[in-house]
Parts: sequence; structure tokens; C-alpha cells
Amino acid sequence: MAKDPVRVLVTGAAGQIGYALVPMIARGVMLGSDQPVILHMLDIPPAAEALNGVKMELVDAAFPLLKGVVATTDVVEACTGVNIAVMVGGFPRKEGMERKDVMSKNVSIYKSQASALESHAAPNCKVLVVANPANTNALILKEFAPSIPAKNITCLTRLDHNRALGQISERLNVQVSDIKNVIIWGNHSSTQYPDVSHATVKTSSGEKSARELVSDDEWLKGEFITIVQQRGAAIIKARKLSSALSAASSACDHIRDWVLGTPEGTWVSMGVYSDGSYNVPAGLIYSFPVTCKDGEWTIVQGLSIDEFSRKKLDATAEELTEEKALAYSCLS
Ligand code: NAD
Ligand code: LMR
Repeated sequence: MAKDPVRVLVTGAAGQIGYALVPMIARGVMLGSDQPVILHMLDIPPAAEALNGVKMELVDAAFPLLKGVVATTDVVEACTGVNIAVMVGGFPRKEGMERKDVMSKNVSIYKSQASALESHAAPNCKVLVVANPANTNALILKEFAPSIPAKNITCLTRLDHNRALGQISERLNVQVSDIKNVIIWGNHSSTQYPDVSHATVKTSSGEKSARELVSDDEWLKGEFITIVQQRGAAIIKARKLSSALSAASSACDHIRDWVLGTPEGTWVSMGVYSDGSYNVPAGLIYSFPVTCKDGEWTIVQGLSIDEFSRKKLDATAEELTEEKALAYSCLS
């Protein structure tokens, strides 16, 4: 029997990530090729005409899984009954800016949209914040939507996770699909810590440690980390626009694994509410290695953290604590 459609909200849907993301959702990339969807697309009035153009294109593409499109500038209409909310709306950073430089513009959006989601989304709606500063926007959304369970509010660090896979794949000349269990710790910012201490690579003679195969700790602790941390800035420099297709694809990966589960023995990185695991201050939205089952994520426990990693985990936590204070100062 055909499944009931799932309602998926995309805010900022007339923007460049939105334009890449909505056809992926309508094709089943996010929720599976047997899952019908109804797209709710929100943007602001100056983008209403462009948003309507995106709706026209969705109709023209005749996606078999797409059972309806709501395109609106009314936040209540956009949020009503949604099962999944992908929060992309906001202002992207430009060349020379850090992601937190868009803080004052974006946190107030997340405060007001928190209330709309809380009052109008379907119970148990899963929320993914993409707009920067992603962790802190998610934290503000959580704090101003206290009735949404904290477990349901996450932010995107899967793009950084995928970037780390991409770099290891190029370095070792292996397929990304043969690499697993890299980790992004912390903030989706230049303090994030891409960590391959526990990553493995499938080879013809079995699974091997990525670190041993790379056999260049200097690169892993230096250039590799910097490339992943600075990849967003490198894309902006090259395209004069921030990443869009990779962000959209990674957002689909994030939701798909959260809803449908991670493969046995594999973890992914998600920005989630810290419960104090790995001595990360409780209450921050921090990227951890997680496994997902039955629509719930669980932080992978018991990984060894050496002194080098400890310092990196603490530095990115410290930045998030500072961002939280800055966000509140922008809201007051
Ligand atoms: P964009 O400017 O092309 O699109 C953003 C859209 O949001 C625009 O259409 C704008 O009108 C809309 N918008 C603004 N305020 C809104 C509001 N209050 N409600 C609804 N919509 C609103 O930007 P983009 O390139 O699509 O990027 C969107 C965001 O995603 C930026 O903040 C960017 O920095 C961030 N981003 C995050 C990641 C990540 O990995 N977390 C990756 C790439 C981009
Ligand atoms: C990215 O990582 O590509 C996005 O967060 C955009 C940015 O500002 O870097």
C-alpha cells in the first residue's frame, strides 16, 4: 500500500540551496524512493515571485513522489502540519566574513520561527538548521520552542563530514563509500575539529585504519584539518556564492540517516543537543558522532580522545559558548 505523504518544510526555498534541495526531496533522495512528499516552501515577500517560479518548475518536472506544493511567505501556513523542517532561510556570509558575522541578521529569524514551528508543526517534527551560524541558530530555535523535544532540533555538520570523506578519498585514491567513521566535532565554523582517529577504509585485505593508511600525522593534524575547516570559504572564493549543491545533498543525507537509520557499525556527524558526553558542556548544539535507529540519534560513546583531540574539542566548545552569549546579546 502507498505510504501517506510526509510534509517537508524548506525555508529560504527561493535561495540557492533551496533551488538545489527541493528537487532532491521531490525525487526521494531525502526520504526514499517509496515515500511521497508534500513540499512546504517559505520565503520572504521580496522573494515571493521567485518562489512562485520554483513552484512552477516543480510542477513542470512532474515528480511522481510530489503530492503537493505549498509556496508561501506566511510562516504559519508554511509550518502547519510539517513533519520535517529544513531551515535554510537567512543571509549567507560573503567573502572575508566568518559564519558568526551573520549572527545578528539570522538569530532573530530563528527566534521568531521557533514559535511558529512550536505552535503549528506536526507533533514530533524533526528540525534541521542549515542557515549560519547553524549551531547557534539551532540553539536559539530550541530555546524559544521549549515544547519541541531538544532531541528533535539539530544542525547541519554533515557537509563537513562529507568534505572530510572527500579529502581522505582523494588523498588515498579510494572511493568515499569505502571510508567510514570520520567525525566532525563541535561548531560548523573554522574551529570545527575534523577527526580521523577512528576512521577506517575498506581495502581488498580487509578494513584498515585511515590514519595508518595515510601514514602522515603531520598532514592529518595540519593541512587536512585546515582544508575541511576552510572549505566553505574556499567555495565562496571560487563561486562568489556559498556552497549549495553539496549543502543540499548533505542535508538530504542528514535527514535520511536520521529517519531511516545509519548502517550497522557506521556513524555520521550531526549537530545535536549536548548531554555532557565527552565533557562537552551540556546545552550546546555541538557536532558529535551519532548512530541513528527508529528515527532517534544516539551519541557514540566510549571513543578514546587523546590530548591533541581534547584541546580541539574544548576550543570549538568554547567558541560555541561565546556564540551563545553573542546571540543573546543580539536578541536583547
Ligand atoms: P541565499 O541567499 O541564496 O538564500 C537564502 C534565502 O533565505 C533567500 O531566498 C532569502 O530571501 C531567504 N530568507 C531570508 N530571510 C528569511 C526568512 N526570515 N524566512 C524565510 N526565508 C528567508 O542563501 P543560500 O546560499 O541558500 O544559504 C542559506 C543559508 O545556509 C546561509 O545562512 C548559508 O550561510 C547557510 N549554509 C549553511 C551550510 C551548512 O553546512 N550548515 C552550508 C551552506 C550554506
Ligand atoms: C559552508 O560551509 O559551505 C557554508 O557554511 C557556507 C559558508 O559560509 O561557509
